[in-house]
Parts: sequence; structure tokens; C-alpha cells
Amino acid sequence: MCGIMGYAGSLNSQKIILTGLSRLEYRGYDSAGISYQENGSLQLVKKEGKLVNLENAISKIKIKSRIGIGHTRWATHGKVNDTNAHPHQNEEFSIVHNGIIENANQLREFLQTNGHKFKSETDSEVFLELLSYHYKQNQNIQSSIFKAYNEIEGNSAFVIMQKDSHKLYAIKRSAPIVCGLKQNEKEVFVSSDPYALMGQVDNLYFPEDGVLIVADYLSSKRLIFLEENETPSSRFKLQKKELNEEIISKGNFDHFMHKEIHEQPLLVSSLVEHFKKDYKDIPDDLFKGVRVVHLVSCGTALYAGMVIKNFIEARSDVKVLWDFASEFRYKNHRFSTEEVALFISQSGETADTLACQEICKEHGLKTYSIVNVEGSTLFRNCDYNFLSYAGTEIGVASTKAFTQQVLVGHFLTLLFLRQLDYEKVALDFKKLASAMNKILDEEDKIKQVAQKIYNYKGFIFTGRGIQFPIALEGALKLKEIAYVHAEGYAAGELKHGPIALIDENMVNIAIITPDLYKKTYSNAQEVKARKGKMVVIGDESNKELEELADYFIGLELTEDLKVFEPLVTNLVLQLLSYNIAKLKGTDIDKPRNLAKSVTVE
Ligand code: G6P
Repeated sequence: MCGIMGYAGSLNSQKIILTGLSRLEYRGYDSAGISYQENGSLQLVKKEGKLVNLENAISKIKIKSRIGIGHTRWATHGKVNDTNAHPHQNEEFSIVHNGIIENANQLREFLQTNGHKFKSETDSEVFLELLSYHYKQNQNIQSSIFKAYNEIEGNSAFVIMQKDSHKLYAIKRSAPIVCGLKQNEKEVFVSSDPYALMGQVDNLYFPEDGVLIVADYLSSKRLIFLEENETPSSRFKLQKKELNEEIISKGNFDHFMHKEIHEQPLLVSSLVEHFKKDYKDIPDDLFKGVRVVHLVSCGTALYAGMVIKNFIEARSDVKVLWDFASEFRYKNHRFSTEEVALFISQSGETADTLACQEICKEHGLKTYSIVNVEGSTLFRNCDYNFLSYAGTEIGVASTKAFTQQVLVGHFLTLLFLRQLDYEKVALDFKKLASAMNKILDEEDKIKQVAQKIYNYKGFIFTGRGIQFPIALEGALKLKEIAYVHAEGYAAGELKHGPIALIDENMVNIAIITPDLYKKTYSNAQEVKARKGKMVVIGDESNKELEELADYFIGLELTEDLKVFEPLVTNLVLQLLSYNIAKLKGTDIDKPRNLAKSVTVE
């Protein structure tokens, strides 16, 4: 949530910062801003709305600056407007912030009584003024940053720039910060996400909480890490990794989301090769003695986890208990030695998920992750990680990450049961990829259904068993990108309330696969009897379903694909939501009010 980008070096900073921000925009797009040094003074341009507004504003100014900071905002404290946009700046400093300062109100009052004036409604400006308050007293920027940092509560990351200085400073608490440089280049980068630094750096540094980064492109070291007593710190991780510039384009697609949906068969096919490479030396005792798995995540990742729960419980006597990370973290936990925790996350930066990992760790639980971003905070903090190899996902609504998470879960289940046969998995994944390709090739059929239903006001997605999480995920996707009310329900639960909503204005998207067929079919009939509009997803050879449906989406559901049925039906729902949203003309890749990486609680 919120993207941060800072640059100091021999090149013009503005272009580099804007490129970085364009890659970070998925983290928030309520407003964007940039602050830079010119002739010893701090300049500021910030604009409400998407990055393009800032780009337009900047294009009218000739900027020659070697050092600057930029920000894309997902609003927490204060309205969405130019004033509340970051950076926040006063005579001496400019700062960008990602996170929440929980004691901002008390600190603001204290600062106001000490003569400090505030321009914005944000908690971020409180840090700026607090820093200035300390700096006025001791004229030492480093110790002032530490003092202000210690006085704020909550999780935050900051990048700070001082007037007339060629240095950038950064510090964080449970929020992501990465800095980077290239061998022999006189420049330094700092960001909230390695993705922003792709193609720019070959060394990435991930500082731990409370370590102050001093980025000085004119010094031989360029990056200095300091502890609070201003002695050198070794609390950071270095990742020497070639970050290749990806082709960050939509190709022939209108939206990243659509492109990412279509990437899935290829990603599925290549996953086994990654497994083979990564798990050559997998410890024998990785899951030894495990009886209970706590599966904790947010959003789409949690729904992937609910599918994985089905995989594990159907084939072993291990219990899997799932929970929303935002709920799990505030519960009173008592764990036994037979329990472990599994966290699923695309970004590896979701604040609630990270907090739960910490709690489990403190309780002595082994923590595992299924995570897409290598080097993310979750990746660094867990005892063992299973990468999901979805590649960079830019569309805010998650699609390919879900599929890969579920497949890694399938792989983990086999590993746990000691039934892993790479050749069989490769063959199964190949079959899945070809079933997905077939659906993608026939997208027009789904588009036609979208055309019939996109104007309806309400949608209820239903499924049973392993299709229940898919009903939840399908409804989530539609809400996210089409801005219509959609609910996911266990088909058998409809009669306990939601059926009251059914009339000719309500669409029921019913997933009716061979598993628990009769029960799910009956539930759909109950909806039909009350004049609900029926979209049915099921076996293409089933005439009974075709008759029941107003619009039937038939799939080739073969026995050998059974375990992957949720991924096949989910692909249909991804395409359906995408096409409905397209007809409605919403901002599909950047839906309103959302952000891809939710780094606040
Ligand atoms: C946000 C995104 C969702 C995502 C969730 C969890 O809400 O919009 O698409 O599922 O966060 O994110 P994570 O990165 O932990 O998977």
C-alpha cells in the first residue's frame, strides 16, 4: 500500500522516479507526488488522482535535479486531494511515508502546542514535523530521525530528504523498504518494492526494522546502515540478484488482468521445473510430526488456502484451520508442538499476514509460506518458503497468483504424503494447461454470457465442497472490478437467508460439478423456482444442467482433471468478471479504492 521511490545519483532524478512510480502505482493511485532538490532548495509537485496527472504537471516544468523522492498514495488518514498527497515538505525536510502512525493525534497536539503548523490532515506530516522539532534542538539529522521514529507507534516506512543535501535517509518498522545500487555506478535507489528497481540495480539490500539507511551517492560506500547509537549495522540482507527488466507491457491485451489470465497455461506448464530445481535438497523432516496446520492469509490468497485445505484434509488426517489474518492476529492463541502455520501471499508484504507470522514465530511454531515475491518480508521471515512462480502480477485483482498458489498447495500435499512423483505431476499440470487453453480459446462464449447479464444489480455465486472457495473467489473478483454487489455462498446455505434475495433481478452463478452433484443441482433448482436468472457452470455433456440454465457454460470435466476442477471453474469466473467489467467500462487494472499490496492493518 502506497509506493515509495527515491533516487540520488548522477542522472536526472525526475525521470527515474517517475518510472519507478509507474511500476508502483498498483500499490495505490489516489494521488502521486514528487519532491526534488534544485539549487539547494526543495521543490514539490503533487496531484490528486492517477500518476498521469502528476506526469502532466511535471511535463510543464524543466527539472534538473540529481536527487528526489516520489510517492503514490493509497489514502488512510485524510481525504484524497492534492494537499494530502505525498511528499510532505517544510522548509528543511521532505518525506514520503507508507503505513499508519497510530498515535498521530497525540503527537500533532503536542507539536501544535510547540508552534508547529500543519498543512494536511495526514499522519505522515506528523512525522515530518516531529523530525523538524528534534532537528531544531540538536541539528543532527540522524539522531533526529531515530528520535522521531521511536516516538511514533504503528508500522511505517519513511524516506527523508533534507534541503541542500545530497543524501537520502530511510527507516522502517514492519513495512517494506529496499535499497539498491549497481556496481561502479554513482547512484543509489530506495523503494518500497524491488519491482520498482528492476533493470536499475544488481544488488538489493533489505534493512531490518529500526536500521537507518543513509544513501549517499557521492561517498565510496554509497549505502551506509546505522544502528540507533549511530554505529554501523549489519542488520540487513543483501540479495545479489540480476533483476531483469521484464517486458512490462500489455502486449495485445487491453488490460494487464486479461493478459495475466491468459498467461496461466504457460505458468502451469513450467511450474514443475521450478519445483525440481527448488526442492532438490528439501529437508526430510520438513513436515515431521505435523497434526494441525494454521492457514492464515487475506483476500484471494485465503481462498486459495481454502482449496488447499480441501486437498490436505481429503487425503490425510491433518487438520487445516483457516483464518483471515486480520482476525487471527487478535485471538488468544494456545498452540501445541504438533501445530505449524502456513501463510499464503502474492506480495509477501500484506501487513496482517506478516503480523500473524510474527505471532506464530513468537509462539515457537514453524512457519511456512507460499509466496510469489522472492525476497519479500514474508519470504525473509518464514522458516521455509515455497515460491509460487506467477511472475509479476500487475492487475490489482489477483488471477494467475491464485492458480499458482493452489498448484503449489497440491504439490505440498503430495510432498507431505510422500507421494510426490514429478513425472505424474508434470503430466497432470500439462493436462490442466490444455484444459485452460481450451477455455481461453472459447472465451467468446463467456463474453456472450457476460453481455446478457452485465446489467443485473446482484449476483450470488454458489458452490459446494471444493467449489465453495471458488464461489467466494468468483464473487470477490466481480465486486473488485465490476463494482456490483456479489456474494459467494455455500450452495446448501442459500435457504438459510440469501434465498430471500432471489427474484428475476438476481443472477445465480451456480458451479455444479460432479462432486456433490445432486445436492448442488437441487439448490440451483430452488433458485430457478423463484425466478432467479441461472448461469450454470458444469460438465458440457450434462443435458439436465443445460435445461436448468438460462446460460450454460459447459466444460470438459474429465476424471483425471478432477483434483484441478476448482482451477478450471475459477478460470471461467475470472473471464466472466473481466468481460462484465469491460462492458461496464470500469478501471479494470486499477479498481477504485483498492491497492494490490495492503501494507496497513
Ligand atoms: C489485496 C489485493 C488482493 C489480495 C490481498 C492479499 O486485497 O487486492 O488481490 O488477494 O490483498 O494480498 P497478498 O499479496 O497477501 O496475496
